[in-house]
Amino acid sequence: MRDEGLCRNPTNMRFHMWQLFESYNFTGRTVLDIGGGRGQLSFFAASQNASYVKCLEPSLDGSNSDCQEFFRRITAKYKLDRVHLCPITFQDYSISRSEQFDCVISNASINHLDEDACANLLIDSSARDRFRGIAASMRDTLNPGGRLVIADCFRRNLWSDLGFRNPIAASIERHLHHQPSIWISIFKESGLRLTGLRYSTFNSLGRAGSVLMNNWLSAYCLAGNFVMTFERPHD
Ligand SMILES: C[S@@+](CC[C@H](N)C(=O)[O-])C[C@H]1O[C@@H](n2cnc3c(N)ncnc32)[C@H](O)[C@@H]1O
Repeated sequence: MRDEGLCRNPTNMRFHMWQLFESYNFTGRTVLDIGGGRGQLSFFAASQNASYVKCLEPSLDGSNSDCQEFFRRITAKYKLDRVHLCPITFQDYSISRSEQFDCVISNASINHLDEDACANLLIDSSARDRFRGIAASMRDTLNPGGRLVIADCFRRNLWSDLGFRNPIAASIERHLHHQPSIWISIFKESGLRLTGLRYSTFNSLGRAGSVLMNNWLSAYCLAGNFVMTFERPHD
């Protein structure tokens, strides 16, 4: 992954993956990476012996223009026949397929899945219904007992509340993001069980940083990143 520019610093990347997945064992598991971009998490899951990985990357809002081309080049170069790119949206995918996975990931993509609904989530009940539908489809793409990992960043941030640009994460369009509590209520209403909420810190600070900064206040003052983990309960 380093040779292909998917990892600049292996120590930082290992910690980043720990913040997302903790000690999740990918061996033999099937994975769906929603809005996977250049496939960093898909390739990571494959490197951890996932048996099958599907990356949905329609090259829409929030994407780099070369995602699909890059993904195809890497899978061909390393003969990664367990990793598949599907260039369609999650909504189209969930209508047309009935596959189920052990682990479903949405890293920095939840807010892009339906940007209009995301922008109006707090003021329009039909926008909330649309996201409830997306969350229910995510539940249905999980095997019972399967894990859903949603990582994103806060809307509320100390810097913007004071009227400044956040110097740590200047490019984030905060109005297109939501507090973890909003997402948690939507996912719970859609039948998923919350199993974890972590406020992620700078990868370079490692576990010591996590001990000090895995809390709401630090996230509010810094970039405001969080990772939520849900489980699809057994019926
Ligand atoms: C900010 S990027 C995150 C990429 C990657 N997960 C990462 O962390 O590097 C958001 C991605 O979501 C994708 N996306 C946007 N709308 C989508 C949809 N409806 N279904 C699936 N993916 C979507 C975009 O194409 C984009 O690559």
